[in-house]
Amino acid sequence: MTVTIVGAQLGDEGKGCIVDVYGEAADVVVRYQGGDNAGHTVVHEGEEYKLSLVPSGAVRGKVGLLANGCVVNPETLFNELDALRERGLEPDVRVAERAHVIFPYHRTLDGIEEEAKSETDSEIGTTGRGIGPTYEDKAARRGIRVGDLLAPETLREKLERVVPQKRALVEEVYGLSIGELESPAAFDVDTLFETYREFGRRLETAGMVVDAGGYVTDALAAGQNVMFEGAQGTVIDIDHGNYPYVTSSNPTAGGATVGTGVAPGVVGTGEVIGIVKAYLSRVGSGPMPTELGGVAGDTPGYDEQGAGDEQAEELATYIREEGGEYGTVTGRPRRVGWLDVPMLRHAARISGFTGLAVNHLDVLAGLDEVRVAHSYSLDGEEVKTLPATTEAWARCDPNLRTFDGWPAFDADTVAAEGYDRLPEQARDYLTYLSNQLDTPIYCVGVGPDREQTVVREDVW
Ligand code: GDP
Ligand code: IMO
Ligand code: MG
Repeated sequence: MTVTIVGAQLGDEGKGCIVDVYGEAADVVVRYQGGDNAGHTVVHEGEEYKLSLVPSGAVRGKVGLLANGCVVNPETLFNELDALRERGLEPDVRVAERAHVIFPYHRTLDGIEEEAKSETDSEIGTTGRGIGPTYEDKAARRGIRVGDLLAPETLREKLERVVPQKRALVEEVYGLSIGELESPAAFDVDTLFETYREFGRRLETAGMVVDAGGYVTDALAAGQNVMFEGAQGTVIDIDHGNYPYVTSSNPTAGGATVGTGVAPGVVGTGEVIGIVKAYLSRVGSGPMPTELGGVAGDTPGYDEQGAGDEQAEELATYIREEGGEYGTVTGRPRRVGWLDVPMLRHAARISGFTGLAVNHLDVLAGLDEVRVAHSYSLDGEEVKTLPATTEAWARCDPNLRTFDGWPAFDADTVAAEGYDRLPEQARDYLTYLSNQLDTPIYCVGVGPDREQTVVREDVW
């Protein structure tokens, strides 16, 4: 059977943690989209693992698969594998022949494009990993795939076609000189060919390259359990997110079928778990109606002087510190705000959540009051889900509901003794959420460690 893990908000909901919690009975953990823009954290017995590309099941020794919907930077992959081996793990990772490869020119162009956009304050705040430029090449049908790294003639031919286009983009569109870039070799066909041919050899020698759809289908036919590990989140989905402040792939559940090569029914008959942070965090730019305070450079219209609401700033700082809300990949402070229920209704509809995992309940403990946006006011009307345009979303004012706060509790005791040991006020908050989304709560995160999750439902 299958279990699909989907971020219900803006990324960093604690997906890695839930993959790990439910990972024991999984045989294969599959990433179906994104690349090393992801930063998934697993904490076990105080040991923290931050995974960008290797599926989070690696911590439990599960086979990992980077399926066709992913964009793969082989350098990051091998570095991450080496780092995990140094820590005593034995990661077994397979990569789809159809997955697209991130080249150094993609990363360089990601930076150049963001820099150019920043002149008009329209940068996305990307992770700078070359994700957008690689998916752009995929859609434009000039991408280079993992399978091509194993075929020297094809690789050379494709590089010879695409690299001059990239050079022209840098020089003629952006008016920069390749020689003056930090890494001119990123635009040199011979260097790229040698380096990436070697990556191809390493992947081939290690037997890592597979046909993802066939691999997953065989695993399921053999009675194995497959977990699909979404990266990013619903509101940064390229189709269903707040375009253009999005990533370039589909983190929503549909992405698991297209990005893996299995039929919709395979994903649809399994569990689809929406991962929800009990409040909201965001890295990068774009609207955020429930934002508290702001982060200079990311919050639209916000500068170093702040927005003038000291109480909101204080609360934001408190939540950011308690929740460790700093980017796993970039270390940037994350923007924080109250839970946004219209956003979650949107997410639940798109992915068809069969259950919810609500993380970070501990972070809000000790506050007098906890708020949520129950709906928005948009141009004088009450709306209960996310408007389709980002401009309309930016005009939404949250209609807040206030809940009693809950006292601090001992995470280990509560996790060991079960859901009923959560403070009553916290259970009221969860019941409201479950009712609004018409979806049961499968588990509740009360701390970052594997053991600090209250599990109500065994999903397998
Ligand atoms: P992901 O990208 O969705 O996998 O999430 P990240 O790993 O980027 O960010 C989640 C952060 O919160 C990590 O540092 C986790 O260790 C931590 N975390 C996960 N669940 C909980 C929880 O229930 N409570 C607390 N306090 N931290 C959590
Ligand atoms: P995980 O899997 C949070 C955001 C970036 C930026 C936008 C586009 O850890 O939840 P990109 O580099 O993908 O082109 O950036 O998307 N972003 C994430 N935010 N969590 C992530 O991944 C993210 N991956 C990308 O900050 O706003
Ligand atoms: Mg993350």
